[in-house]
Amino acid sequence: MNLLVIGGGGREHAIIKKLRENTDVNLIWCLPGNGGIAADADCVSIGAKEIDGIYEFARAHDVDFAIVAQDDPLALGCVDRLHSLGIPCFGPDAKAAQIEASKVFAKNLMKRYGIPTADYQVFENADDALSYLESASFPIVLKADGLALGKGVLIASSLDEAKEAVSEIMQEKRFGDSGNRMVIEEFLTGPEVSVLAFTDGKTVSPMVSSMDHKRAGDGDTGLNTGGMGTIAPNPYYTEEIAESCMNEIFLPTIRAMAAEGCPFKGCLYFGLMLTPDGPKVIEYNCRFGDPETQVVLPLLKTDLLTIMQAVEEERLSELKIEWSSGAAACVILASGGYPLAYEKGKEIRIPDELPQNVTVFHAGDKRVNGKLVTSGGRVLGVTATAGSLQEALHDAYDAAAQIHFDNMMFRHDIGQRALRVLEDGNDFSRIR
Ligand code: AMP
Ligand code: GLY
Repeated sequence: MNLLVIGGGGREHAIIKKLRENTDVNLIWCLPGNGGIAADADCVSIGAKEIDGIYEFARAHDVDFAIVAQDDPLALGCVDRLHSLGIPCFGPDAKAAQIEASKVFAKNLMKRYGIPTADYQVFENADDALSYLESASFPIVLKADGLALGKGVLIASSLDEAKEAVSEIMQEKRFGDSGNRMVIEEFLTGPEVSVLAFTDGKTVSPMVSSMDHKRAGDGDTGLNTGGMGTIAPNPYYTEEIAESCMNEIFLPTIRAMAAEGCPFKGCLYFGLMLTPDGPKVIEYNCRFGDPETQVVLPLLKTDLLTIMQAVEEERLSELKIEWSSGAAACVILASGGYPLAYEKGKEIRIPDELPQNVTVFHAGDKRVNGKLVTSGGRVLGVTATAGSLQEALHDAYDAAAQIHFDNMMFRHDIGQRALRVLEDGNDFSRIR
């Protein structure tokens, strides 16, 4: 089997390493990939948004199966184009990818089908949004409709801040056309849980839950980032909550997408908040989360390619997907300054030998004259798996301490909140 993977971050590296466990896999091309992925796949410098380039590459090569892992190419119809070449794919078509690419689409879907989410209003112009805010209560949440590199959500604690957010999104167009429409919604509270789920449009099979750490600084301070670390499973996500999410959120979403004429096939990401009124959807993503994938896939025992093929062929119900009963922790090593401006081109040193339960996923690096150097904000994800979260965190931090590049920055408290929940007596064996 020859595989094509579209994307070039830590998530794609985690997917590729898992796919490599299947001995039928021969070549893996990764477009564009990165310096570290090059050790596990043939990287070709075609950007993930260059849909015509990806199409031509796929046409010229003997691709048996493609995995489109990143949001932009999914929203741009990469799967539709590859399907037109007769190539089976893992990932939703452009119509189904709207569930992430348009927050207005997602919110209207949830309202129409009674899926619990924050109350909201949609605005097509700044004047209407500004006059609505005059009688709103605060804090309030403002979201650009379209894709915005995970930065299109602003939480305003006062009328002035909210007005400023409307102006940034709809007038200054900080997120480009993504701000042509916006959603203003109720501020919810409660612990957040990420649940990635395989689905073939009919059956939904949730993966182990995880917890992201979005803020740049220790103690959840500083700016929002793409994610500074993850742990799995998420101790807030008990069997009871998992069951209620399956009945109230996951199955209704899959059925709603099918009823709307856009069945979702691929990995659907449910960003959930466990509010005092029960679990609610904060966001959907049409793809694996990053860095969630870097803790979830290392716990997968069933062959990933077999699952992906079953999703594409709509026979997911035939599979029994198995997960390790242990825990995983991922610490992101970032460039100093991230998520704002940071320097690139710093040489990266990783020890040749790391413990067997540790994997370094490469996110933002490249090879220059045989040396690995930084090229992005999030550079590496250091993941450890173990029997307990405590051990996984210990081993991930231990490995991180042996890795070096100038201005390397990381959070020191990944998993601490989860550990406190476990200390409070949550039964690890009943966590999903
Ligand atoms: P998103 O990019 O949609 O994941 O949003 C980024 C973060 O903003 C989420 O992880 C939440 O922490 C926060 N957020 C989004 N929507 C809400 C909401 N309605 N209430 C409270 N926090 C929210
Ligand atoms: N870690 C959040 C995301 O992948 O969107």
